[in-house]
Amino acid sequence: MAKIIDGKAISAQIRAEIKESAAAFTARRGYRPGLAVIIVGSDPASQVYVRNKRRACDEVGFYSEAYELPEQTTQSELIALVDKLNADDKIHGILCQLPLPKHLDENEVILRINPAKDVDAFHPYNVGKIMIGDYDFLPCTPAGVMALLERSGIEVAGKECVIVGRSNIVGKPQAMLLLHANGTVTICHSRTKNLAEVCRRADILVAAIGKADFFTADMVKEGAVVIDVGMNRRADGKLTGDVDFSSVEPKASYITPVPGGVGPMTITMLMKNTLTAAERAASKE
Ligand code: GUN
Repeated sequence: MAKIIDGKAISAQIRAEIKESAAAFTARRGYRPGLAVIIVGSDPASQVYVRNKRRACDEVGFYSEAYELPEQTTQSELIALVDKLNADDKIHGILCQLPLPKHLDENEVILRINPAKDVDAFHPYNVGKIMIGDYDFLPCTPAGVMALLERSGIEVAGKECVIVGRSNIVGKPQAMLLLHANGTVTICHSRTKNLAEVCRRADILVAAIGKADFFTADMVKEGAVVIDVGMNRRADGKLTGDVDFSSVEPKASYITPVPGGVGPMTITMLMKNTLTAAERAASKE
């Protein structure tokens, strides 16, 4: 029987710490850390994320602004909004919810966000800093995974860490964080040969391929730590991860559930980055 890593409880603990630091910041400076969230179009999943991000800001005592732009927003309108927020002293963090509608150029938008306000850590400047191990901002989902490991007392140093998924948001930065924690890291993807065999080597398996219930017991070593980054919607509307929980759980030593595992941690790390951005901006005043 695996120990269930309770992402909700760990997330609540970290949010309480952030709330305390934010209150101290606000008392010291006379203003709150501020986050602006931009969403273009009406993708329902993105709308849920954005609502949750605003709610988290209220919970930890941040100032927040939400910009819900219509689907037909032009690139120049979006860039003009980013420029306005870059210049706004009340706003310390800017997040543009991805994916953007197809007619918009995501890379140009990411490049336009002032790296000092890039709380997603998507700007190439921040991606480069992560590669070096000199963090201004933590990549939110991978940092959430690291916090779950740390707060569950799971040692990474010397462990075989297998990440399945190579996205810029999860797989690649996750590899860097595990590497900096002295794990031995393998990144797998759709062209990996003998995927099940590579996964069976893992002491720590990070599942991030976006396929519901893909990882079954035969792909997991006895006693492995299994971290499920997947967020898939079943036909019946229920949320499910990339891991087939009922078959893998008896074999694992630790496992994250979906929902209630990695999910709540991502927004918590975003809050942490927003506080960092505000503190860094204040230290330059
Ligand atoms: N879309 C899915 N995950 C994320 C995220 O962490 N940040 C942004 N900006 N968009 C996303």
